[in-house]
Amino acid sequence: MSKTLLKVDNLRTYFSTQEGVVRAVDGISFSLAAGERRGVVGESGSGKSVAALSIMRLIEPPAGEIVTGTVEFQGENLLELGEDEMQAVRGGKIAMIFQDPMTALNPVYTIGDQLMETIMLHQNVSASEARGLAIEALQDVHIPDAEAKLADYPHQFSGGMRQRVMIAMGLSCNPDLLIADEPTTALDVTTQAQIMDLMLNLAEDRGTAVLLITHDLGVVAGFCDTIQVMYAGGIVEYGTADEIFHNPQHPYTWGLLASMARLDEERKHRLHSIAGAPPSVIDLPIGCRFRPRCEFAVDKCGKVLPMLRAAEDGSEQLVACHRAEELDLKLINASGETNAEASS
Ligand SMILES: Nc1ncnc2c1ncn2[C@@H]1O[C@H](COP(=O)(O)OP(=O)(O)O)[C@@H](O)[C@H]1O
Ligand SMILES: [Mg+2]
Repeated sequence: MSKTLLKVDNLRTYFSTQEGVVRAVDGISFSLAAGERRGVVGESGSGKSVAALSIMRLIEPPAGEIVTGTVEFQGENLLELGEDEMQAVRGGKIAMIFQDPMTALNPVYTIGDQLMETIMLHQNVSASEARGLAIEALQDVHIPDAEAKLADYPHQFSGGMRQRVMIAMGLSCNPDLLIADEPTTALDVTTQAQIMDLMLNLAEDRGTAVLLITHDLGVVAGFCDTIQVMYAGGIVEYGTADEIFHNPQHPYTWGLLASMARLDEERKHRLHSIAGAPPSVIDLPIGCRFRPRCEFAVDKCGKVLPMLRAAEDGSEQLVACHRAEELDLKLINASGETNAEASS
């Protein structure tokens, strides 16, 4: 069995707002093995970013607060570290990249200065050594003419190139975990594919574990070993990529799959999309949070919140649905048609 790198237990992160308490992350538990690539998938507002920011302890008090839970990383609870120790973890053992590289890059400093600064912050090297490492880091992400590019400013780079710089920066200290939050959402489809390829190769070569956060199941295909699906602050399904794509157990996962854009079939088939909108995480319904949108809901679903449990005996696939056993949620089949039925 591979070594556990990260173990999140019953994490809850709430925000106090004028409208009430936002239960952005509401009791999630999961673990990630060293070198594992996990997709974290769900519609906008499901708590993916807040979960990542909580792990990095980047939630801003007093409005935002981690109210319960533990985040064990390499056996140490990050939530109990002092701010100095936590700063060494950020960008050192855990790197994070975001959707918009411009927010993380400073427009008034050169790419080289920013890269060298990051390297020197986490590694005990001289300025000239850092320069060498910065050049190597840019070469690793296939930026041509790396040495000359050190003198460029962020605005001289394209969006895809800037995201390459962020990956270079993130990986320059050889982190054990890379958290990538919608890293390709702002990019065109071709650049998106190139960046995913690059991340896959780098993560594989270095054995870096990755939490890849995305609202787009298409992005995680071919990249992730395992996938967890989030809905309204909770995890509703977990499985290997194969299980999630071919044997989804939760109606929400099935809906996400069915609504996945398939370029080859776009014109032939009307896309199925999940009707309705996610609930406000301020006034959560009693029972299953997906119930108001679920075509398979029964009485119990409105009364009891389903817990994440094994999809079947001995299976590692987990599902939070009262009806998982009865439903046969078939995958989008080869002809692009979708089919779901209750077999009982
Ligand atoms: N700083 C904040 N203050 C209040 N509510 C927030 C804050 N950040 C996020 N939220 C709320 O928390 C929920 C989860 O947000 P988020 O994690 O960003 O979703 P996702 O990344 O899955 O799109 C949303 O309802 C969002 O509006
Ligand atoms: Mg987000």
